[in-house]
Amino acid sequence: MAKPKLARDIVGGLVAVIVVIVLLGIAGAIDVVPAGLLVALLMAGGAWLLRRNRDPAPRAPEVEREPPNLVSQAFLDAIPDPVVVLNDAREVLAVNAPAREALGVHQLGGDLAMSVRHPKVLAAVEALASGAASVSEQISLPVPIARTYTFHAARAPHGGDPRGARIVLVLHDETRARRAEQTQADFVANASHELRSPLSALIGLIETLRGPAVDDAAARERFLSIMHTEALRMTRLVDDLMSLSRVEINEHVPPREAVDIEEVLAGVATALSVRAAGKSMTIGIACSPALPKARGDTDQLTQVFHNLLDNAVKYGKPGTGIEVTALPVAPNAAALPANGVAGIAVSVRDHGDGIAPVHLPRLTERFYRVDAGRSRRMGGTGLGLAIVKHIVNRHRGRLAVDSTKGEGSTFTVFLPAAREEPRAKVEA
Ligand SMILES: Nc1ncnc2c1ncn2[C@@H]1O[C@H](COP(=O)(O)OP(=O)(O)OP(=O)(O)O)[C@@H](O)[C@H]1O
Ligand SMILES: [Mg+2]
Repeated sequence: MAKPKLARDIVGGLVAVIVVIVLLGIAGAIDVVPAGLLVALLMAGGAWLLRRNRDPAPRAPEVEREPPNLVSQAFLDAIPDPVVVLNDAREVLAVNAPAREALGVHQLGGDLAMSVRHPKVLAAVEALASGAASVSEQISLPVPIARTYTFHAARAPHGGDPRGARIVLVLHDETRARRAEQTQADFVANASHELRSPLSALIGLIETLRGPAVDDAAARERFLSIMHTEALRMTRLVDDLMSLSRVEINEHVPPREAVDIEEVLAGVATALSVRAAGKSMTIGIACSPALPKARGDTDQLTQVFHNLLDNAVKYGKPGTGIEVTALPVAPNAAALPANGVAGIAVSVRDHGDGIAPVHLPRLTERFYRVDAGRSRRMGGTGLGLAIVKHIVNRHRGRLAVDSTKGEGSTFTVFLPAAREEPRAKVEA
């Protein structure tokens, strides 16, 4: 800063000398020609001095809290996984935004153990400080939300630094993957269990028919009837598993057909009318005249309303009615994607035993049944509502359940409407 000030002082002095010479020249005290030459010379010198000593370009302010000799904070924050950089003394030298959020490491310079107390992490840091090259482990952190991480800790030599080598700790969130694995394992266990029960029944009956009941015609008839029922149950289970997996495969691709929901509902009601009549039940359909077409897949929506009406028949009280209503929904309603497209709401209401609130959140899980024995006796697989949920998800819609114990249940499906095709121009 001293150099430019000196230059300014010299230039100031030169200006003063020039002013004096000019005044003397005007007063006639000195000869005008050499005075003019002297002034020009002095001005050129001043300009050269000024240019030479112009202030250097302003330097960018240093990034606040940026640790010396480490990668920049912006660089660390751009990494989506939590990253913590430590020294051998376990002091935090740098931390990125995901680590601040996930681990609560806020203070630089403090001991890592003040925020992360997991013994595996501290043991890994100790091992690295004693010379180990890298450590990888899986840990679960219970707070703020239970999460599973794989952490990788590695030693990054840092020559000449009195605080010694750096230790870089990276955590990778595996919570979602673990949950998916668990769901998959539960699903395989449940599916095997569901198939094993009818298979065991079949094997037992076949053994009885070949042994003690070999000459018992009446027992044979009865057993064959049970075997038929069990075989049908297995077929239904396999069919449901297949349709669930088919829906899941293309769940990310929204369907594009314009579906006439009134037609779909009428078809499903006809298909179930015999079973409903068997329980002296009636199915009433009321569709709004202003109902737009739904954007969807006709076969899949048929399956949705078949499963819902099937439940209403199954779990409704004999002699009661099932009311189906279909209404238009205004654009951007809470139950629809906020894209300005209108929708429709189809409700299926029964007068059955209703469902206790505790079961409602789990109703669409695969194989979840409120009363497993009752559902099985009725030939249910426990997959009907899981299929409904996945199909509705694929349609970017929503399923809502409202039920009162002892009074009945209402299952409502919200679906986006098909966009109106622009009318073809009629040539004059
Ligand atoms: N309308 C309803 N009224 C009362 N309980 C219902 C109703 N709909 C579903 N449930 C309960 O939710 C459970 C899950 O229904 P879901 O349709 O998935 O399976 P399910 O009917 O048992 O078998 P299926 O796979 O043959 O449909 C049922 O077992 C039943 O306990
Ligand atoms: Mg069902």
